[in-house]
Amino acid sequence: MSYVLAVDQGTTSTRCILFDRRATVVSVVRAEHSQSYPRPGWVEHDAARIWRDVRRLIERALREAGVAPSEVAAIGIANQRETTVLWDRATGVPVAPAIVWQDTRAATGDIDADLVTSRTGLPPATYFSATKIQWLLEHTPGLRERAERGEVLFGTVDSWLIWNLTGGRHLTDVTNASRTMLMNLNDLDWDDELLRLFRIPRAMLPEIRSSAEVYGTAEAVLPGVPIAAAIGDQQAALFGQTCFEPGEAKCTYGTGGFLLMNTGTKQVRSSHGLITTVGYRIGAEKPVFALEGSIAIAGSLVQWVRDNLGLIGTASEIETLAGTVRDNGGCYIVPAFSGLFAPYWQSEARGVIVGLTSYITKAHLARAVLEATGWQTRDVVDAMNADSGLALTALNVDGGMTADNLLMQIVADFLEVPVLRPMVAETVSLGAAYAAGLAVGYWSDLRDLHANRHMAGRWRPRMDAARRAGEYANWRRAVECSILFSR
Ligand code: G3P
Repeated sequence: MSYVLAVDQGTTSTRCILFDRRATVVSVVRAEHSQSYPRPGWVEHDAARIWRDVRRLIERALREAGVAPSEVAAIGIANQRETTVLWDRATGVPVAPAIVWQDTRAATGDIDADLVTSRTGLPPATYFSATKIQWLLEHTPGLRERAERGEVLFGTVDSWLIWNLTGGRHLTDVTNASRTMLMNLNDLDWDDELLRLFRIPRAMLPEIRSSAEVYGTAEAVLPGVPIAAAIGDQQAALFGQTCFEPGEAKCTYGTGGFLLMNTGTKQVRSSHGLITTVGYRIGAEKPVFALEGSIAIAGSLVQWVRDNLGLIGTASEIETLAGTVRDNGGCYIVPAFSGLFAPYWQSEARGVIVGLTSYITKAHLARAVLEATGWQTRDVVDAMNADSGLALTALNVDGGMTADNLLMQIVADFLEVPVLRPMVAETVSLGAAYAAGLAVGYWSDLRDLHANRHMAGRWRPRMDAARRAGEYANWRRAVECSILFSR
C-alpha cells in the first residue's frame, strides 16, 4: 500500500491527512494555534509555532496510521493564503510575527486601482500580501536595507513550509503568488512596476512554480519523500471537489467563506466585485483560472460569539440555539471585522448589529450569525451570476461549517438553489493530495479523481419568495450601515 499525505495549514488550525488511492481518509490529526489580536484590526500568527505544528503532525499522522515514511508517495500542501511571513535567510528565524490575511493595519492609500486590477485581477485591499510586506518593511528598523541585500525573505505560508521542509528552497506556487497583488496574471511572474509601486525588493520574493510538481524532498521530517504540490487552500478545495470544467463552482466554509468558479484557461474579469485568480496549474500545463467571491468572516463569527461573547460553549451549539427560534426577530449582523470583502471591497467598514429591540434574545442573535453567512453567500453568488451570465443551478459546499444542517438549509433558502455536500468534507486536504498524487503519478489523470467523488448531503430551498426578498433588502440596508460605520 502507499498513501499521499496532505498538510492543510489553515487560519485557525493545521491538519495532516493521509489518503489512499480511493481518497479514503486513513488518518487525520489536527492542532489549533493561537490567534493574536494586539490592536483593533490586527491579526498575527507565530510562524515558528506553525512550522513546529506541521512537523509534529506529519510524524503523528504516520505513527497513528502505522504507516512508514517509505509508504508515502508524496506530500501536498494547502495553506491559508495571503498571510505574510518574513524570515532571515541565514537563520531561518521569522523577523516579525506573521501578518494574517484578515489583518487591516496597512492602508492601500492612493494606489492606482486600475493598474493593480489589470495586472493582478485583484482590487487593492489590505487583504492581499503586498500591503503587509510594505508595512513590515516600513515599520521594522533596518529591514528594508536587509531585504534589499537579499538577507530577508518573504513567503506566504506554503513558501515558509517548503523552506523548512526542504531545508532552504525558496519557492511558491502560482495560486499563492496570485494572492500577493504582486504577480502579473498574464505572464505569471512578479510585476516590476507593482514591485516599484509597493517598494518591495525582488530579492526577497520566492520563485513561482506550478501547483503540482516536485519541489524537493521533505528532508526535515520524512527524508526522501517528495513535496509535490502547493496550492492555496481555497483553490485546493476547488480541485478536491473535482470542479475541473469551466462553470463548476464550490463554496468552502471555514474561518471565512470562499466561492470559486472554474473559468478554464480564460481569465474572466469581474465587473461585479469578484477576484480573478489562478485556480491551479498542473506542471507545465496551461494555468486554469477562477473567479472568486471571498467572504472574510463566516466560521470566525461563530468563534467570536463563543469566545468573546460567551453565548455558546462550543461552536456546534450555535445550530441548536438558532434552531429554537423561527426567524431573526428583525436582527441582522454584518461581520465586517476585517472590512468587507467581495463584492463590496470596503477595507474600512466595521461590523454592526442592527434591528435590536427588547424582543431579541440570544437565540435571535445566533440565527442572525448563521444568516450572515447565508446573505454574504447570496451577495457573491449574485455577483458570480452577473459576471458569468449564467445562473448557478446548485452550490457545492465543503468545510467545517457544513456540518451545521441549519446553516446549509439557510444557504439553500437564501440562494434558492440546492446545496450539495460531498462525502469527504476535508476537500482542502483532498485537493492538495490530488495535486501531489498527480505530480508523482499516484493518480494518472483527472478522470481518476472524478471517480472518487460521492455526494453525502443535499438541501432544497423551502423559503417563501416574498419573505426572502424582504429579508434580503434588510440585509443590504445593514451592509450600508456597516460601510457608514467605517473606521
Ligand atoms: O484567503 C484566506 C483563506 O485562504 C483562508 O482560508 O480556511 O484558513 O480560513 P481558511
